[in-house]
Amino acid sequence: MILATEPQPASWQLPPAMSDTAGPVDSTYNFIFWFSVVFLVVITAAMMYFVVKYKRRKGVKSEPTGHFNRLEIFWTVTPTIFIAFLFHAGYSSYIRNATAAEGATEIRVRAKKWSWEFEYPSGDRAPGELTLEQGRSYKMILSSDDVLHSFFIPEFRLKRDAVPGQYSFIQFTPTVVGDAHVFCAEFCGTSHSGMLATVKVLPHKEYEEWAKTLGKCVGTPEECKPEKYGETLFVKNACSTCHGTRGDGLLGGSKSPGPKLAGIFNTMQPMATGPGVMADENYIRESILRPNAKIVAGYTTVQMPAFVMKDDQLDAIIAYLKTLK
Ligand code: CUA
Repeated sequence: MILATEPQPASWQLPPAMSDTAGPVDSTYNFIFWFSVVFLVVITAAMMYFVVKYKRRKGVKSEPTGHFNRLEIFWTVTPTIFIAFLFHAGYSSYIRNATAAEGATEIRVRAKKWSWEFEYPSGDRAPGELTLEQGRSYKMILSSDDVLHSFFIPEFRLKRDAVPGQYSFIQFTPTVVGDAHVFCAEFCGTSHSGMLATVKVLPHKEYEEWAKTLGKCVGTPEECKPEKYGETLFVKNACSTCHGTRGDGLLGGSKSPGPKLAGIFNTMQPMATGPGVMADENYIRESILRPNAKIVAGYTTVQMPAFVMKDDQLDAIIAYLKTLK
């Protein structure tokens, strides 16, 4: 395995390749592509030649064509061999990518409408950002909290469905230091296109440094004030994909899937069932940890997934929500 510090440049068809899983996929893809180009040219040229050669001519009557067994066997057997070869190329790299390396680091990936959450072996959870060490083997254990999603990292050439009520797996070793991207590749509702995350591949030393900060606020004392840290968490947890930018309850000018958060603090909120509820600290805390305990009137169609957070993170988000007007 070759480790590199610079991402290999993207080709005219494919994004940069950043993991050990990318090579076999690229060579299979390139082989199929050029194989198809050659046959496209040969078949089209032959077709044009025959169109001209056998076009209707005055005084020539067409005769039915007979059988030519040797030719028919040739054009049946040859493509079968090619297809068997292509199947082998695709299947062997599929099997290779489906087998985790011994001692691979396991990371839990939870898909939810509409964000990705990564849980590291330490138990710390990081939303929206997957940090990996260059040259380390990983096994991702995927699941979904609600509907079908698909975990797709183009730079690793990996895509796997995240299915509710079931685990699925992908394994790889990032080989190149740099940034990659997570997309959701299964249409999962109104904010499907916003279901993104970043992947950071760090060299060993930087990774060790990063690991110390996992689950804590990273930044200047100013950036780690509760309301600022809360804003960072609000963005990273993709709260805005359901509650609108800065919790204004709007998405693209119309009502967002989740209720408005700005300006609700210490006001009565009407519930879908039962009496209204005072939007205080306890209410916000409960709504993050057990979102379906109390549902605001008019928002029963979309279920919010539950979030797991540490107390200081909850405090920070509450502090941030208080600042929204
Ligand atoms: Cu999740 Cu599309």
